[in-house]
Amino acid sequence: MQHSKTDTGRLILPDQLFLSAVLEGLRSSPQKTLPSRYFYDAKGSILFQQIMALPEYYLTRAEMDIFRNKTTALIDALNMKQQLHYELVELGPGDGTKTIHLLKGLLGNGFHLDYLPVDISQSALNGLTAMLQKELPGLSVIPQQGDYFVKLKALKTNHRPKIILILGSNIGNLLDAEVSEFIAQLGDSLSPGDKILLGVDLVKAKEIVLPAYSDAQGITAEFNLNLLDRINRELGADFDRRQFEHRASYEASEGIAKSYLISLVRQSVSIGSQVFHFAAGESIHTEISRKYNDEIISGILQPTNISVAAKITDSQNLFADYVLVKSGAD
Ligand code: AVJ
Repeated sequence: MQHSKTDTGRLILPDQLFLSAVLEGLRSSPQKTLPSRYFYDAKGSILFQQIMALPEYYLTRAEMDIFRNKTTALIDALNMKQQLHYELVELGPGDGTKTIHLLKGLLGNGFHLDYLPVDISQSALNGLTAMLQKELPGLSVIPQQGDYFVKLKALKTNHRPKIILILGSNIGNLLDAEVSEFIAQLGDSLSPGDKILLGVDLVKAKEIVLPAYSDAQGITAEFNLNLLDRINRELGADFDRRQFEHRASYEASEGIAKSYLISLVRQSVSIGSQVFHFAAGESIHTEISRKYNDEIISGILQPTNISVAAKITDSQNLFADYVLVKSGAD
């Protein structure tokens, strides 16, 4: 889960890993694929910011509605004790505009905590820390630059109760089995009673989901096509982005939005000495954006020692923040 909003891929993943992921995806038959975790170069991160502001992209506003207007319900669901000192660890915090409402509520209600945003991008952490110091000068912010699991392992060495925040449906680009594995690993870094606040987009009608991934202004198309530019630049490929077109699909029965790049003509593309052939109309599958419900979440948690303690939804029931708890106490 490397969804930090800036520079992520380049810093965390050496070019070799990027190259092998791209080659493997383009060799795969019958469906060519490209890895969505490489969307977030500098340009991709800016495009994602623009996506979050799109009229069609309801996810960010729906979760903001929860953090702004259901702060008390969120705090109650976290079931914290005033006499304890907590660590609130956020994986991929972005600009903190949602989290700040929860942090304000917690401080205002007399809870004791440190806020530890974890991101691969130091510049994203710097911006976030400056914003929080200005808006919430009483808050202790301890930024953690680096890989999620390295940082979580390091945190296990203290005995403060922990709340891990994973917002924005950031897990949605992973397969359910990968999320199970991720949460199980996360559980290994937690103590009984520790919580995870997991923000996920809910399964809903195609009429709402599909436009969020095929917006009228074409920002999502740019975001998807930008991956080809990045492959050209960093791996020396010769994709002609004008010969590809973005397409999204979604069926509520499956609950997974899918993004593709469609080859508009019969063409060949080279990456170093490797040549890949595309039929006219052939697709490259670039991204899944999973949508969830209680049944899907419990299936994902089934092989872990983590379970659902509470669920808070926005006023329109578009999005949910699940409070998960590591079993063994509380
Ligand atoms: C960052 C994974 C939540 O899937 O909705 C937005 C990424 N892709 N538009 C999502 C994305 C296309 C986004 N997540």
